Amino acid sequence: MSLTLGVNIDHVATLRQARYALTPEAHNVEPDLVAAAAVCERAGAKSITVHLRADRRHLQDRDLARLRRNVQSKLNLEMGNTPEILAIALETRPEDVCLVPENRQEITTEGGLDAHGQRATLAETIRQLNAAQIRVSLFIDPLEEQIRAAHALGAPVVELHTGAFANAQGEAQVAELARLREGAILGRSLGLQINAGHGLNYQNTPVLLGAVPHLQELNTGHAIVSRAVFVGLARAVDEMLKLMSAYQG
Ligand code: PXP
Repeated sequence: MSLTLGVNIDHVATLRQARYALTPEAHNVEPDLVAAAAVCERAGAKSITVHLRADRRHLQDRDLARLRRNVQSKLNLEMGNTPEILAIALETRPEDVCLVPENRQEITTEGGLDAHGQRATLAETIRQLNAAQIRVSLFIDPLEEQIRAAHALGAPVVELHTGAFANAQGEAQVAELARLREGAILGRSLGLQINAGHGLNYQNTPVLLGAVPHLQELNTGHAIVSRAVFVGLARAVDEMLKLMSAYQG
């Protein structure tokens, strides 16, 4: 089974919003998200990931609708568990939904979802998404309690939060890698698909891949969009895919 890449293009929208947020009527809005998604797909990405946040700070509803019509690979919608966004997901029908915690003040998604503590509210959302044949992933920290809760809730996929690993150095990073490794092994033994993401870049991705088994999909955004400023989006995606191609599984 090969490891695939989902490219999170939220920050392409961030760049656009920096100029056009106050002029929604403007025609010459750029950069265009559908064009960005197409470049990522042609370079080998197997899914396009976006996060429709409650505050709409980057992705807009119209972007999601356009991406749904144009994405050829898979559309992966990251979302907080709210009635508003759930209704949009059920109408848009992305192939995948990744449920994430969402706090208004945060710059990016901080901790993992508390699948254990929030199982009552998550259960109904997961049931509706499963019934709509949208594949549900829970973005969780690599903790036994959370992985078991995701399994018990009927989510077929977990995305292990790699943010703490990405921020750590030295012994702390070794400890985070061990947690991710154990989480992946446990999740796999329960029959879950294991994805990973957050804070992954061209330096730490090979370190992660050297230590954590059973990974099927990485979701990476900021590092790829940042690299694209210097080398272009297609090459930035290709460089990440080349790093991933050495993965032993
Ligand atoms: N996976 C999830 C669930 C996320 O919330 C994010 C950030 O939106 C990412 C992956 C991508 O993180 P980064 O932009 O740091 O690569």
